[in-house]
Amino acid sequence: MKIAPSSRLNRQLALRIVLFSSMVTVVTTLMQLWADYEADVGQLNAQQSYIATSYSDTLEKSVWTLNVELVQSQVDGIARLPGISFVSVTAKTGQAWRAGTPSQAHVLTTRIDLRHSYLDDKQVEVGALQIESNLWPVYRSLLSKATEILLFNGIKTFVVAAFILLLVRRLVTAPLSRIAEHFERTPNATLRLERRRSGGFDEIDQLAAQLSGSYLRLAESLERVGQSERQLGEALIDRERLLHLETGFKQKLEREVVERTQELEHTLKRLRSTQDMLIERERLAALGRMLTGLAQEMDGPLEKGLDTAGQLMSQCLALRGQVSRGSESDKLARQLEDGVSQLRAQLQLAADLIGGIRRAAQDRGDEMRERFHLSTTLDEVVSQQRTALEAGRHVVDIRCPTSLWLEGYRYALKLVLRNLLSNAIEHAYAGREGGRIEISARLLDDQQVEIKLSDKGKGIDPSLHSRIFDPFFSTHLGRGGAGLGLYIVHKVITEQFGGTVQVPASSGIGATFVLRFPQSLEGPQQYGG
Ligand SMILES: Nc1ncnc2c1ncn2[C@@H]1O[C@H](COP(=O)(O)OP(=O)(O)OP(=O)(O)O)[C@@H](O)[C@H]1O
Ligand SMILES: [Mg+2]
Repeated sequence: MKIAPSSRLNRQLALRIVLFSSMVTVVTTLMQLWADYEADVGQLNAQQSYIATSYSDTLEKSVWTLNVELVQSQVDGIARLPGISFVSVTAKTGQAWRAGTPSQAHVLTTRIDLRHSYLDDKQVEVGALQIESNLWPVYRSLLSKATEILLFNGIKTFVVAAFILLLVRRLVTAPLSRIAEHFERTPNATLRLERRRSGGFDEIDQLAAQLSGSYLRLAESLERVGQSERQLGEALIDRERLLHLETGFKQKLEREVVERTQELEHTLKRLRSTQDMLIERERLAALGRMLTGLAQEMDGPLEKGLDTAGQLMSQCLALRGQVSRGSESDKLARQLEDGVSQLRAQLQLAADLIGGIRRAAQDRGDEMRERFHLSTTLDEVVSQQRTALEAGRHVVDIRCPTSLWLEGYRYALKLVLRNLLSNAIEHAYAGREGGRIEISARLLDDQQVEIKLSDKGKGIDPSLHSRIFDPFFSTHLGRGGAGLGLYIVHKVITEQFGGTVQVPASSGIGATFVLRFPQSLEGPQQYGG
């Protein structure tokens, strides 16, 4: 059950008023009783002193004269006086007179010595008078007085407490309850306390006004706090969103950095290989230039040497005709003829090599640029080598789109392909039959044509890769190889076609040559077309 705050306050107030009043009542009653007790006891004391002094003379004389009856009648008379419960007179002789009832406790006793005076200034003790008053009547009177006071004070306290409560209720707790009810039901409305006032604007009105003002201020503050909370919530959401964006941005940035790094590494790799290719190209070109110069220089002496050797040979033949067969001169003439013949053969070999380098270095700028289908050209090259292919029972597999066209130098390209094909026959499958040669061609995204020629033959040792394009490099020197085939391939593709020649590292089986060059060669000033 919900107890109204006002009734709880009233109850506590009543309890405290009753408790406090009761305490005050008890204390004042006790003080009152103590004062009464002191007064009663004092009165009894005074009474006993008065009786003792007023009876002592007659009693002293009666005891001195040993008038027993008189002493007894005086003792009885004292015992009958109000407040006296017991009286005794004890003579020095040991004789005693008593009246009343003696008590062990709660007794007020007065004792005086009875002295007889003689010769005006002499005194002799004749006995003692003892008067006792029982205190129980005093106690009883105090008890009834206490009951009376308590009853009276209790009623007074109740009435005063009830009155105070009524006043407090009317003046304080009831208005407080109304204030509390107002704030519970209609907190935003202005608080008007309808009540009877004895004076003007009192503390309750002041409290109500202040509470009302404070409540309105509190409501405003709460509204502002609510707004701040909402703004804070929105700010937090914004912050979360920003953090999310930041994280996404960072991740994107990191991805881009990785991608850019990879691209850069890729570009760097490409640049390095292009640089290597350019260096190689330049090196081969310089070598070619040097050899061409050398060939030109050697052309004349070799021609003369060959002429001289021819003349010598004629002279040897003439000499043999002049000497008789079997003679010493005939033998000498034959030896001379053999020597001259060998000399001629060697000179012819040297002349052939020199001729080869001249042909290799020959400027093919006079060839006309033309548009042709690559597959047709490939077929032509293969059929030109048919005899050699059939001899070794080798098979050539061509994979080239028939629609793939080129705009460039057909004869130069045929020369290149012929060299590569004959290398596969002569080197890859040397001494072997039934080899397979694959030629594939395709158009790349960047409008470059790629031609790949591969065999499954003995392959090229990786240590030779850097030298195979050099002029006069051949593993078949003296056995028909001049070492100019790949030199011509490289020279034509790089210089005339503006392309590249690569020999990817093989896994041990066969060799592959990859040619790449623009599908359409333009700019006659550059390529001589
Ligand atoms: N398909 C191949 N398989 C194995 N080795 C090869 C192949 N192609 C070329 N070679 C090696 O490369 C060397 C150089 O070849 P290149 O064509 O320049 O000269 P060559 O064939 O020896 O002589 P030339 O071509 O002048 O008659 C060859 O001697 C050979 O050792
Ligand atoms: Mg060759």
